[in-house]
Amino acid sequence: MKKLGVAIIGPGWVAGEHVRGYCGDARTEIRAIVGMVPEDKPRAQQYMAKHGFQAEYLESVEQLCRRKDIDAVSICTINFLHYEQALACIKAGKHVFVEKPLCLTQKENRTLADAAKRAGVQTHVGHVGRFYPAIVGLKNFRDSGAIGEVFYAESDYWHEILGAWKVKRRTSGSALLMGGCHSVDMVRWMIGEEHEAVEVSAMSVAPRWRKDFDFDPTLSLMAKFSNGAVGRVSCSLECNMPYVFHLQVNGTKGTIRNNGFYSDMFPKSQGFMHVTSTYLDDWNVAHHPFPEEVRYFVDCVANGTESMLSIPRAFKTYELVFAAELAASKGRIVKLPLKA
Ligand SMILES: NC(=O)c1ccc[n+]([C@@H]2O[C@H](COP(=O)([O-])OP(=O)(O)OC[C@H]3O[C@@H](n4cnc5c(N)ncnc54)[C@H](O)[C@@H]3O)[C@@H](O)[C@H]2O)c1
Repeated sequence: MKKLGVAIIGPGWVAGEHVRGYCGDARTEIRAIVGMVPEDKPRAQQYMAKHGFQAEYLESVEQLCRRKDIDAVSICTINFLHYEQALACIKAGKHVFVEKPLCLTQKENRTLADAAKRAGVQTHVGHVGRFYPAIVGLKNFRDSGAIGEVFYAESDYWHEILGAWKVKRRTSGSALLMGGCHSVDMVRWMIGEEHEAVEVSAMSVAPRWRKDFDFDPTLSLMAKFSNGAVGRVSCSLECNMPYVFHLQVNGTKGTIRNNGFYSDMFPKSQGFMHVTSTYLDDWNVAHHPFPEEVRYFVDCVANGTESMLSIPRAFKTYELVFAAELAASKGRIVKLPLKA
């Protein structure tokens, strides 16, 4: 069988996990690594040595786009580069796996969604939280009807985030784009993506003890969905505590609480039961299920099926993010869909 030619763009921290994923999938071959800063070349070489493969080192996305032997790309550069690189690769007819956040503005969000639909390539936005074994199990439990109709979901992304580019608006975007988008995605998924957010309110907190942020690192939002359900997300990048990803999903017949579940199906005396498989409770990318996520993306490409996290589908998550940021900055409720 002909192998899928893959390129990795931005051989940094998370890229190592994408490399691990493709190297573990016999259907793919990494043929190029694209780096644009001097430190990228040795890092690319380290990944090749560690996983025992040879790929060409390229210095621009334009070079990559001209390569006929590259079918799919993983975009693992830092946030502000995702939009232009994803757009270039989509236009060149490549299948695109882009790390979160998809982009930094609603205009970019719309442009990418339109381009992806037109190009007919497979796309995927990296919300790796959906691939944790505990979350897969709990989502199946929810979809089976075991907690009834979901009327409320909340998720929190609480992390003391460190790194020069992660705390500046120009390079990372915002608190929601840097981390909270994982929680927004989770809330939309648990409420049911067929129900769209119709309005959102939000408030943010200026930096309180860290001097390095040039945006508000703490934000809390509440959104109303088309079926009347309410979703709540909070995100703080200057929490003084170990990483926490909190999840609560309230249904008419039961509840999901982090890796625990409760349902009318079981005796009341049972209390919460717990899924013992891996849950999103570690910030380290080596702990995240990237091999599972890469395999899913390759399945989508191989079978010609649209990812549950395709750019046109993830559009709704980012639209809610941008609407919440607008609500926080203007101090008013913002209706969705956004006009611009
Ligand atoms: N899905 C997840 O859970 C998860 C986890 C970690 C990171 N990420 C995302 O992955 C992306 C990369 O994060 P990371 O921690 O690996 O970052 P990193 O700091 O390790 O850098 C990633 C790459 O971007 C390149 N880069 C940085 N500045 C550049 C510039 N000005 N021009 C060209 N290239 C530049 C670096 O050289 C490197 O190749 C981010 O968008 C981040 O949000 C996602």
